[in-house]
Amino acid sequence: MSVVRVQVPASTANMGPGFDCLGMALQLYNSVEMTATDAGLFIDVQGEGSGGIPRDESNIVYLAAMRVFKQVGYKCGGLKIKLHNNIPVSKGLGSSTAAIVGGIIAANIISGQQLTQREMLNMACAMEGHPDNVAAAVFGGIAVAVPVDGEIKHIKIEPPKKMKAVVAIPEFNLPTKISREALPQQVSFNDASFNLARLALLVAALGQGDMALLGVSMEDRLHQPYRSNLIPGMKKVIAAARLAGARGVSLSGAGPTLAAFTDDNYEHIARVMKDTFKQNGVMARTMILDPSPVGARALEIK
Ligand code: HSE
Repeated sequence: MSVVRVQVPASTANMGPGFDCLGMALQLYNSVEMTATDAGLFIDVQGEGSGGIPRDESNIVYLAAMRVFKQVGYKCGGLKIKLHNNIPVSKGLGSSTAAIVGGIIAANIISGQQLTQREMLNMACAMEGHPDNVAAAVFGGIAVAVPVDGEIKHIKIEPPKKMKAVVAIPEFNLPTKISREALPQQVSFNDASFNLARLALLVAALGQGDMALLGVSMEDRLHQPYRSNLIPGMKKVIAAARLAGARGVSLSGAGPTLAAFTDDNYEHIARVMKDTFKQNGVMARTMILDPSPVGARALEIK
């Protein structure tokens, strides 16, 4: 029986204007341990979300593994899956991506490493629906990722030195589906051009480590204004974090977590974000997270 353990980083997607195409891996990891057995399915979940994560065939790690086995023609008698989760669930920090990517990589190792990293990336994006979290989780660093005819085009950018993400994670969950339903079918030409100018500036600034430009370049008009109705105090927390010294602040993925990107004043910004959420009736916890330079990787294969 082979046992495989894969570690996958959390990720913060969009980073303001980069809706569905920009993400950064964070040093907060889930691990997926998978063992091929003779019969049946056994799933154990420890850590974040352990109470609510299904332990049957609807489990997303299991579904991802089955997709790999089907594609490569591997006959699986049974599977033991042990999940140790550090990434908060349904908060906009890439927990479902971590589950999908972890499941795919572990299953690929168990079935004889028949898929390339790129094939696994494409499969994970097909399951997740968009590549921003996925490319960051697979490759680490900052990911610019764009689907073109079913293939993901990806460039990795090294995060600016000293840059950390201060994340304020509200107590309530915001399912991605609900957060995407809040988005309009159409946007104005002005808003589209506002975003693409800022995204170009943001990617260039990140690539050159120019933190001073993050404030203006992380502004967004395509998704955050609509999603702010779902997150009490969001605008105030963003403004307060900026005042406290954050270089740029964005909604993390589909939310409800807010991420402040900064190279200084980490604890102060965290406190201000938590307090401002509280003043708006939202209990939140904070974390100060370094970017993860590495993406998902197998830690043990026995
Ligand atoms: N880019 C996605 C969104 C991330 O904003 O909906 C959520 O997975």
